[in-house]
Amino acid sequence: MSEATGKKAVLELDGKKIELPIYSGTLGPDVIDVKDVLASGHFTFDPGFMATASCESKITFIDGDKGILLHRGYPIDQLATQASYLETCYLLLNGELPTEEQKEKFKKNVRQHTMVHDQVSRFYNGFRRDAHPMAIMVGVVGALSAFYHNNLDIEDVNHREITAIRLIAKIPTLAAWSYKYTVGQPFVYPRNDLSYAENFLYMMFATPADRDYQVNPVLAKAMDRIFTLHADHEQNASTSTVRLAGSTGANPYACIAAGISALWGPAHGGANEAVLKMLDEIGSVDNVAEFMEKVKRKEVKLMGFGHRVYKNFDPRAKVMKQTCDEVLAALGINDPQLALAMELEKIALSDPYFVERKLYPNVDFYSGIILKAIGIPTEMFTVIFALARTVGWISHWLEMHSGPYKIGRPRQLYTGATQRDIQR
Ligand code: CMC
Repeated sequence: MSEATGKKAVLELDGKKIELPIYSGTLGPDVIDVKDVLASGHFTFDPGFMATASCESKITFIDGDKGILLHRGYPIDQLATQASYLETCYLLLNGELPTEEQKEKFKKNVRQHTMVHDQVSRFYNGFRRDAHPMAIMVGVVGALSAFYHNNLDIEDVNHREITAIRLIAKIPTLAAWSYKYTVGQPFVYPRNDLSYAENFLYMMFATPADRDYQVNPVLAKAMDRIFTLHADHEQNASTSTVRLAGSTGANPYACIAAGISALWGPAHGGANEAVLKMLDEIGSVDNVAEFMEKVKRKEVKLMGFGHRVYKNFDPRAKVMKQTCDEVLAALGINDPQLALAMELEKIALSDPYFVERKLYPNVDFYSGIILKAIGIPTEMFTVIFALARTVGWISHWLEMHSGPYKIGRPRQLYTGATQRDIQR
């Protein structure tokens, strides 16, 4: 529980003083508890939750001004370079990095659940072949609750834990199949002798005609790092959606499906796909200057730039840029679209319009470029973000359900019609 600082904020309303307690966390700004404002007949007003702490959490800390992102206290660059994605998953779920023994047990546990009930595979046939894979993901992840409903007592800690493992284990299978379905290739079943990232790439790219398909270790490492860098991000739009859905007692598969829906938007997880679409639209380096003028006239946004919280740099983008350089060098790629991306980055980092507004490349700018280099189709970019973020969502859902919580029920500033009678 947070600590009361003893300090109080005083709000004066209609000549009356309301004392509001202030709490301190372990890091970050203190918070003013505004609950008592209600008794005065007022609501607080904060559209977009710019200044609102919606919950108490021990999972992730962000200092946007300093470019700090910590999971359970560990800096993201250390996790991305010194721990694997599954170790990061264990950390997010349990609060500590695993010992060797715990790591092996966790990996075994995840491996045991990589298959999905075979009838789930038939679900895909209900979708058009040209369905967006995110549309498929929203459907099939929500549908899991119909297959694993015997472990859905959210009051039971064992049920909650097995569901968390199932989600982390099955999401790569469901994600790879959402791609296979749209290209008309048979589903490839998981291989438990491969690492988490290798297995995902294997299910994406292997075919029955290419039984000896080998996953490139450089690409598997890059994929694992992309997963780690997207694993959690505090109370962002999709995580808050998962918590809000979870606060009603909805089952975890439904909550994660809600998170996937929220992530889909171009201002959130859809940005990595939008980056590549933007590069397509610009076409060539010759058109960059004209495009930047459009951005400055606010006709379009520079996708993959800017962040609600990071106003100096995105610490994830730093590691991602390094991985991006490694992957491009290892693959010897000479793609004009990537050259275009690098030109955009150069201009945005030096042009006063972007510098003054603190619009730096975010994690999705580089992840989009890496994913393209790996050969992942653009429509799958946000699916990969959803795959990686599933552990963050479920960690927040678990945290919420391990203590007391209230249904999330914000109020509003009503500006519609006042009461009137139907006149007929
Ligand atoms: N391109 C051009 N101008 C921008 C951009 C952009 N991407 N982002 C913000 N601005 C401008 C905005 O027009 C405003 O200018 P002015 O002060 O002249 O009115 C100023 O910068 C401040 O913008 P804001 O709208 O107050 O910023 P916000 O915190 O509400 O928005 C954002 C954050 C991420 C939604 C926005 O920067 C954006 O849409 N970026 C592009 C989408 C993107 O890359 N999203 C991925 C975020 S990282 C992955 C994740 O965590 O989900």
